[in-house]
Amino acid sequence: MARVTLTQFLIEQQRSAQHIPADLRLLIEVVARAVKVISVHVGKGAVAGLLGSADSENVQGEVQKKLDVITNELLLQANEWGGHLAAMASEEMEEPFPIPNRYPKGEYLLVFDPLDGSSNIDVNVSVGTIFSVLHCPEGVTDPTAEAFLQPGSRQVAAGYAIYGPATNLVLTVGTGVHGFTLDREFGAWVLTHSDIRIPEDTKEFAINASRSRFWEAPVKRYVDELMAGRDGPREQDFNMRWVASMVADVHRILARGGIFMYPMDEKNRANGGHLRLLYEANPMAFIVEQAGGAASTGHQRILDVQPKGLHQRVPVVLGSKNEVERVVRYHAEPAAR
Ligand code: F6P
Repeated sequence: MARVTLTQFLIEQQRSAQHIPADLRLLIEVVARAVKVISVHVGKGAVAGLLGSADSENVQGEVQKKLDVITNELLLQANEWGGHLAAMASEEMEEPFPIPNRYPKGEYLLVFDPLDGSSNIDVNVSVGTIFSVLHCPEGVTDPTAEAFLQPGSRQVAAGYAIYGPATNLVLTVGTGVHGFTLDREFGAWVLTHSDIRIPEDTKEFAINASRSRFWEAPVKRYVDELMAGRDGPREQDFNMRWVASMVADVHRILARGGIFMYPMDEKNRANGGHLRLLYEANPMAFIVEQAGGAASTGHQRILDVQPKGLHQRVPVVLGSKNEVERVVRYHAEPAAR
């Protein structure tokens, strides 16, 4: 059977289904090309001297890894000149990056986490790149942070790449979720997982359980019930997984179901949660919903949250629908608070 490449897939989406305009197709192809280059850098590991910290901090006060800095630059350089963007924003930059005046400007905004889970890079565990695409608001010619503060429901595309044993690119333009695998010999993205669906039920959960003493009552109740397994109210055993790399944990959920939680707790309450809304929670929530799953803060659909800041954080509960709905129900029950 003939292989379908990313380019063919996007042209097909543009041509027959008219889901994506030419500029959006270009944008996705440019991001996918940059991701290939990132995959090469990540794959070199210690040989290229790229591991370790960069002796700098990002806007969140986190120590930047050398690869955080390099991957951010790669995405900026790849996307600044094509004429498809009005501005970019990134986890690694306090303010948005305006498209230089020497290049034409387009109608989209691109926001990304260039290397998610980068604490894993030095131990050779999967990391990834997450991105989200929004329309630049009408009439805005020099977008500031304000232009990016749109609810996730307005995303026109979102995706992530995972740099694992294989490199995958998982994408949605609002017509389901499709996964591509990088054929390293040919340098091509090949469609390997079309129309990915997350099972509604699951026996697998992902949470950083070392924070259990800080959890709120509804999360504690939910996890206690899972841990009680066959002998508890759920009357079945559950398995726990935690990669500490959101892309890897979400990728597993897309592959075989599961629930992922980074909830609000006593320790992260002052920050509003742990994960970033615009370039972590929103793109993943869009992907998960498009695959038939659900994504909530515990109280509200993530895609409905009105952002107040570029680097805002939110609590995240996402994955198999019936489990996410149960966690939301526990949050709503007064007795459990
Ligand atoms: O923001 C980042 C992130 O690294 C996610 O990719 C991951 O899910 C989470 O933080 C890991 O958090 P912790 O260090 O608490 O396990």
